[in-house]
Amino acid sequence: MPWRLLVAAMLILGYLANAYIPRTSRLIGGLSSVRASSTAAGRRNAKKSKGDEAESALPFKMEDLVNLCKRKGFVFQSSEIYSPMAGFFDYGPLGVELKNNIKKLWWRDMVQRREDIVGLDSSIIASPSIWQASGHVAGFSDPMVDCKESKLRFRADQVFWGKLETVDGQEACYVTVMESDNMLDVATTAAIKKAKKAGVAGPFKTLKLSDLTEATAEDYPKIPSPATGEPGHLTPPRDFNLMFQTSVGAMSDASSVAYLRPETAQGIFTNFLSVQRTARMKVPFGIAQIGKAFRNEITPRNFIFRSREFEQMEIEYFIPPEDEAWPAFHQTWIDNSWNWLKSIGLKEEFMHKSVHESNKLAHYARACTDITFTFPFGTQELMGIAARGNFDLTQHGTSSGKVMDYFDAAENRKYVPHVIEPSLGVDRLFLALLTSAFSEEEVEGEKRTLLSFHPAIAPIKVAVFPLVNNKPELSALARELYTTLKQRYMCEWDVSGAIGRRYRRADEAGTPFCLTVDFESLEDNSVTVRSRDSMQQVRMKIPDLLPFLSKEIDGFSL
Ligand code: GAP
Repeated sequence: MPWRLLVAAMLILGYLANAYIPRTSRLIGGLSSVRASSTAAGRRNAKKSKGDEAESALPFKMEDLVNLCKRKGFVFQSSEIYSPMAGFFDYGPLGVELKNNIKKLWWRDMVQRREDIVGLDSSIIASPSIWQASGHVAGFSDPMVDCKESKLRFRADQVFWGKLETVDGQEACYVTVMESDNMLDVATTAAIKKAKKAGVAGPFKTLKLSDLTEATAEDYPKIPSPATGEPGHLTPPRDFNLMFQTSVGAMSDASSVAYLRPETAQGIFTNFLSVQRTARMKVPFGIAQIGKAFRNEITPRNFIFRSREFEQMEIEYFIPPEDEAWPAFHQTWIDNSWNWLKSIGLKEEFMHKSVHESNKLAHYARACTDITFTFPFGTQELMGIAARGNFDLTQHGTSSGKVMDYFDAAENRKYVPHVIEPSLGVDRLFLALLTSAFSEEEVEGEKRTLLSFHPAIAPIKVAVFPLVNNKPELSALARELYTTLKQRYMCEWDVSGAIGRRYRRADEAGTPFCLTVDFESLEDNSVTVRSRDSMQQVRMKIPDLLPFLSKEIDGFSL
């Protein structure tokens, strides 16, 4: 039946057309975005929140951002010269600066400027017992179904099916659609057409859609495969663990199995007592960590939003165990996270809060609030702030046999602290910052692409130009200025093309300040400072530049 497979392939390719990953490599995966499970790792799973998948009202498309990222050297697809692998990305010269700035500011504000939080850098590969104890080995999984005919694999919670019935209860047909914003319309049209073809006349009841995890044993054999359109081809949902496995040591057998960490948090829990004792921390206190995490996502998608290798910035904030203690700490972390995201340039009109419904929380979790963000592809989770009880410390205590008690000298009592966990993805924040900063406008009949990053976040802080490139005395002064400023900030030297072109290039890279050395500079030791967002130009004495820049970029001037 090659034509059927061809049709199936076309259907799926059509669905994938909105994605930014080479289609061939995505076909191994199913199509999903939200996990739903009540396993031990389920806190990260019960995240289908009201804002998810909402239509984005942004005046630009994801493609615009992806193209800009490639054109300007922010982000490249990994292994691009070979057949790229979905879900892996490389950050180019501007991207690595932006990413480093995000991490630097987070560390400055969460660790350096606070007295109650210290840092940690734990290993990516650690004892597999950690992942047994945390519940990841047993429960960090997505439900998958395979189409036996086409050999394609789908995420069960992203394949939706419906049974069309006449108003007098006669079964007309079953239909399947992939999750999308207009899937009910698509399914209803397809179902009515199918029913009429089968000779069943309406009127029909309103079609209801459910995902494959909700199908009963009676429904399952009748549900058509999204690949072939025929019933009986789908396997029942099976759990697929998202942790990447590797082997440690020369022998590769069951005893050498280890995992690439799927979150940085567990390294914090296992080091809790060592850090607390060595840094002499008193509850309430936090441990912060920035580092890589790896998840074999079935459906990496939306560019760097959901990838297989990404970075997290996580804090475990340890608090007293009393029931009345956690709500205030939790609220403080929600407010603190919100304000910090705003302070580095996220647009507040794109930010939202999504409170997890209590019946969807993992059994040990008290509460979880996500900060969601309106990306070009819809509103989705940017970060989570969870009140996690003492589940992890208790699990590691039981599993390792080590006592995880904290001794509170002031109150002369021992307890296992509870935690508040603000967890934020660096790559997601990168995308949210790009979304907040991106705009296109017309200036004097020409298109200007602009990234209005906060100066502290901008990859390049200052571009220095001699007005013309063929006057050695101008170039020498400009070069001297560039070399001096470069001691403190990332600077760009640009001499090619007219000055207007150089401004446009700097705008597109998000560079907040351009300094032009002109003939007057030789006389008055001043330069023109051009501001990216207002495009205004002012003259400034060269000795005043550093205090000005450090006020604008760092927020203070020494
Ligand atoms: N320790 C808690 C934890 O890992 P999570 O909600 O699974 O919770 C926290 O992940 C954050 O990590 C997310 O809010 C998101 O910013 C980021 N993140 C998770 N999976 C990701 C992926 N596949 N690609 C990029 N970022 C991801």
